[in-house]
Amino acid sequence: MSDLKYLSLEKLTLAYGDTVAVADLDLDIRRGELIALLGPSGCGKTTTMRAIAGLLTVKSGHVRLDGADITHVSPNKRAVGLVFQSYALFPHLSVYENVAFGLKLKGLRGAALDAKVQSGIASVGLNGFANRRPGELSGGQQQRVALARSMVMEPKVLLLDEPLSNLDARLRLEMRTELQRVQKETGVTMIFVTHDQTEALALADRIVVMKRGAIEQIGSPQDIYNRPQSSFVADFVGFENVFALEGGKLKANGGLYDLQGDVPAVAGLAWRPRMVTLGSGPFQGKVRGTSFAGEHREYLLDTPLGPIKAEVDASQPMHDLGAELAFDLPAHRAAPLASFA
Ligand SMILES: Nc1ncnc2c1ncn2[C@@H]1O[C@H](COP(=O)(O)OP(=O)(O)OP(=O)(O)O)[C@@H](O)[C@H]1O
Ligand SMILES: [Mg+2]
Repeated sequence: MSDLKYLSLEKLTLAYGDTVAVADLDLDIRRGELIALLGPSGCGKTTTMRAIAGLLTVKSGHVRLDGADITHVSPNKRAVGLVFQSYALFPHLSVYENVAFGLKLKGLRGAALDAKVQSGIASVGLNGFANRRPGELSGGQQQRVALARSMVMEPKVLLLDEPLSNLDARLRLEMRTELQRVQKETGVTMIFVTHDQTEALALADRIVVMKRGAIEQIGSPQDIYNRPQSSFVADFVGFENVFALEGGKLKANGGLYDLQGDVPAVAGLAWRPRMVTLGSGPFQGKVRGTSFAGEHREYLLDTPLGPIKAEVDASQPMHDLGAELAFDLPAHRAAPLASFA
C-alpha cells in the first residue's frame, strides 16, 4: 500500500439486477485526501459510496483500503463510516447516547467510552448539548451529531452522501467550514458527494466528475473550474456558452462561424458569461433578458449562434431589452474542450 493508493477502486462494476449503474470505474484516493464526487442525478454517486461501505454487492472489480482487499468484507468490519443526507439519529436518545452508540457496540465502557464521546462532541462544537435529544436541535446541529457519531469510530474513510443538502444556505456554509476543519484536524480520508459545484470547489482537494456511471474528469478544483476537458464538464461547472468546432470554425445553430484570432485544434470551446465581450465584435445579438446580480449584470442575447449569456460589470451603462448589440467570443479566452458529447 502506498499513501497515494490508500483507497483504490479497480475496474469496479456495480449493478442493480441487470441494470449496470457504474461500469469499470478506476479511482485512486490518497490518505487524508478530501474528494468531492460531483455529477447529475442518477450518475452513480450513491451507488459508488454504497459499494465502498459494503452495502452493495460488487458485480466485478475490487475495493482496496489501506493495503487490504475489502471487496467482500462485511460493512461493520471495513472501518468505513457513512453519513447520509438524512441524519438518521435515534430520536429517543440524547446527543451523548447517539455518539456513544457505536462505541458501546464495540464494547467500550466507562472512562474510555466517556473520553471518546466527550472529545467527539467537542470536535464538532457541540459542548453543552450532550443531554439534548435530536428533536431539540437545529438541522445543522443534528448533522454535527451525525458527523461526531461517525468520527468517534475512527474510520479509515468517511463517506458523506449529500450531508448538507437539507440545510439552509447559511447553515450549509457553516457546516462546510466545520467539515473541512474536522477533516484537516483529524486527517481522515473523506469522500463527499454533492450536486453542488460551488460546494465541491470550496471543499475538495480533488473533484471527481461522474457521468452515467463513469468518471468524466478528475482534477483539482482549479482544473475543473478553469480547464474542463469536455462539453459535459464545461456545462456542469457554469460555462454557459459551449460550442463544438468544425474545421476551425464554430458550429452553432446548424451553421459554421469564423472566430477571430487563433483557434486551437480541439473538439470545442466554452466561454463563461464574463468571457464574452459585449459592445464590440463580429457578431450581433438582441437583448432578450437582463438581470442585476450585485457586482455585475447578466444579459441573455438572441443571436444567429443561438442564445448567448454575457456578464459585464454593473457599473457599465445598461442595455435595454430589445437593444441590438455587437459581441465577440474571443478564442483566446475560451476553455478548449478535448471532447464534445
Ligand atoms: N435500488 C435500486 N434499484 C435499481 N436501480 C437503482 C437503485 N438505486 C439506484 N438505481 C439506479 O442506479 C443509477 C445510479 O443511481 P445513484 O443512486 O447511484 O445515483 P446518484 O448519482 O446518487 O443520484 P442522485 O444525485 O439523484 O442521488 C440510477 O440510474 C438509478 O436509477
Ligand atoms: Mg445519490
